[in-house]
Formats: sequence, structure tokens, C-alpha cells
Amino acid sequence: MGEALEPSKLPRHIGVVMDGNGRWAKKRGLPRVIGHQAGMKALERIIDAAKEIGIRYLSVYAFSTENWNRSSSEVQGLMGLFRYYLKGKMEQMHRRGARVRFAGRLDAFPEDILKVVAGAEQRTKDNRAIDVIFCVNYGGRQEILDAVTRLMASGYEGPVTEECLRGFMYAPDIPDPDLLIRTGGELRMSNFWLWEGAYSEYYFSDVLWPDFGKSELEGALVSYAGRERRYGTA
Ligand code: FPP
Repeated sequence: MGEALEPSKLPRHIGVVMDGNGRWAKKRGLPRVIGHQAGMKALERIIDAAKEIGIRYLSVYAFSTENWNRSSSEVQGLMGLFRYYLKGKMEQMHRRGARVRFAGRLDAFPEDILKVVAGAEQRTKDNRAIDVIFCVNYGGRQEILDAVTRLMASGYEGPVTEECLRGFMYAPDIPDPDLLIRTGGELRMSNFWLWEGAYSEYYFSDVLWPDFGKSELEGALVSYAGRERRYGTA
């Protein structure tokens, strides 16, 4: 299918809601955290595939502000995975030429995770093959509230325009997502890139995230390439 993807019709930025880890595990009679582990492997495959295809920005919804309400064993399991991933895999990401970034209310995370987050951003900041943005403790409404709070604290007194508010968002230099993908069969975006996704194209897949691979990604890209984006014009 690779040849069918014309570079001019590729999205620059893809955002992904990686849903279905829990159901993937349940179907196999396994604990949910094993589903998240499989989800982490799927994420590695998708980062490689996206880079190979020529996607410049890939953002993934790894932990939402609502995810704290899950059982403490699941939250602990996810924290353990982040630790493992951040400490063990960042060098690999660096070698792949990936720039690693984070978006969300990071201060809620334990000190050791914050340290590796800062280290990973610093270590990979000059890489240009692909930017991978991990949205952690991210919520779209919270992002807008945080931006307004920071705007007010800045002492700014001019008119509040889209451009000026955008400057206070979590990742103002990253282009808005062209394509938002959600796996796992649910038809909603659950507070992901609320502001930035205003004109994004949506793509929903029934495939559970751990089973989502390069060919599923290509399916989403073929669908995207066939769409006409008008941004509200006739
Ligand atoms: C949604 O599936 C997935 C999450 C809440 C977490 C996403 C985490 C990963 C893909 C793995 C770890 C990532 C990193 C960055 C190390 P769900 O649990 O809601 O699935 P369900 O809808 O089937 O219950």
C-alpha cells in the first residue's frame, strides 16, 4: 500500500487516542496492565512506521487527567510502564532520530519521572526525523484553562486573540493535528487536543490498540488522503 501514499497528501501531524488495551487483555484473560504493556509495543511499532512513511509529528494520548480515577493498581502499573519506557527506551528513540516531547500537567508526576522527562527532552531536542509528543496527565479543557491562567499571570493587556492564547498552550510550536485517530471502536475524542483539533480530520478504527500496526495506520492515511479540507470555506 506504501506507493499509494502520495507525500503531498500525508498529514503533517497525527494524534492518536490509543484505546482498547484493557479489552485486549480481558479477551485473553490477562490483567489490564498486560494490555498496556502490549500497547507500549504497539506504540513503538507505530513510531517506526510513522517515521518510515514520513510523518513529521506524532502525538499520543498516553494518560488523561481522568485516568487517575482508575484502580490504584492500574495507575501504578501505568506509572511503572512510563518509568520503564522513559528510562529504558529513550536512548533507542534518540538513535531513531526522534525528538521526544511531553504535553500535559506534568507536575502531578513523581519526581523521578519528571527528571527523566526533562532528560529525554534535552537529549533529543536536536533530532528532526520525527517529533513524538507524549500527552500525559493531559486534558484539553485543562490545557485551555492553564493557558488562560498563564495569559492572565503574564500581565498581558491587549485583546485576547486566538494567536495570543495559542502561545500559552502546552506545545505552541507544534502544528495542529491534521488527523486524529482513535482505535478501540469508541466514537469520541475524550478531551484530546480540544483546541488544536478544531479542524482535524477524524478516523475511527475498531481495532484494539495493541493490534494496531503499520497496515492499519496506512488505512487511516489512505482515508485521510481522500478527504477535502475546507476549513469552513465553501
Ligand atoms: C486506553 O486503553 C489506554 C490508556 C489509558 C493508556 C495508554 C498507554 C499505553 C498505550 C502504554 C504505555 C505508553 C507509554 C508512553 C509508555 P483502555 O485501558 O481504556 O482500554 P479499554 O477501553 O479496552 O478498557
